[in-house]
Amino acid sequence: MTSLARPPRPATTDGPVVARTRVELHRAIRSFDSLGRPGARTVLVPTMGALHAGHAALLDHARGRGEVLVASIFVNPLQFGPGEDLERYPRSFDEDLQLCARHHVDVVFAPAVEVMYPDGRPKVSVHPGPLAEILDGASRPGHFGGVVTVVAKLFGLVGPHVAVFGEKDYQQLVLIRRMVADLCMPVAVLGVETLREPDGLALSSRNAYLSVEERRAAVALSAALRAGSLAGPAGAEAVLAAAHDVIAAEPGVALDYLEVRSGDLDAPPPRGAARLLVAARVGTTRLVDNVQVQLGMRASEGTPP
Ligand code: PAF
Repeated sequence: MTSLARPPRPATTDGPVVARTRVELHRAIRSFDSLGRPGARTVLVPTMGALHAGHAALLDHARGRGEVLVASIFVNPLQFGPGEDLERYPRSFDEDLQLCARHHVDVVFAPAVEVMYPDGRPKVSVHPGPLAEILDGASRPGHFGGVVTVVAKLFGLVGPHVAVFGEKDYQQLVLIRRMVADLCMPVAVLGVETLREPDGLALSSRNAYLSVEERRAAVALSAALRAGSLAGPAGAEAVLAAAHDVIAAEPGVALDYLEVRSGDLDAPPPRGAARLLVAARVGTTRLVDNVQVQLGMRASEGTPP
């Protein structure tokens, strides 16, 4: 895709314009039209805040895809189940705003819960279908319904031409793509590769919960994915066996699921590109990760044998 040059900002702002309400959001987005660029392409990066280098990569990816870059920061109660970490989810708005400024965000939309859900739990919501009942959906009932509903609302509020999500939450990305296709939403969804610590741990806001010992144990997830992908040429069963061995050797990790599926999260193909996905508890923290694996072919080969 062609990169578009970053446009001039409104003269009155240094960092992003912060919009807390729908009216402020629309006024902020419209202010870019007043720069003489009516119909400017708007790019949205939805987040729950506690921004880290992984989010920065999403913003950098998004920046070149349009003229107006909007980041939303909203910890969405609808996607947390009873007993999950809604209350303690890390919140760091001032630091988030600084990161957004450094990554050339134009508008930060940071609504209160009452702005997003003025009547409480919405009576009409998006039903994510059967793909939301497997993998994370099996352990977190209702989670993906909450995700696709808030993303649909953000699309309605911001009206983005392009929306950018991380591949770390792979099932979320697949479901959002499905929603956009099935409900004919006029937005292009881009996925960005997972950013990792030097030892392989996928960047996640929830890594902040890990103690030193848990942080050490958590590396087993990405190590298992790496071992699994190296076993790709021998097929899906070998991938799973290799990955299981790594997890089993780390007593600090309680496995939730380890599965090989197609890129659309159907049954894995006998050969070619597939996805290896893992979720596990490290202490009380639930972590997810995934990688692409090539089944039945050497990693260097582009086509099946
Ligand atoms: O990935 C996230 O941070 C959230 O699930 C999202 C997409 C912002 C919806 O609340």
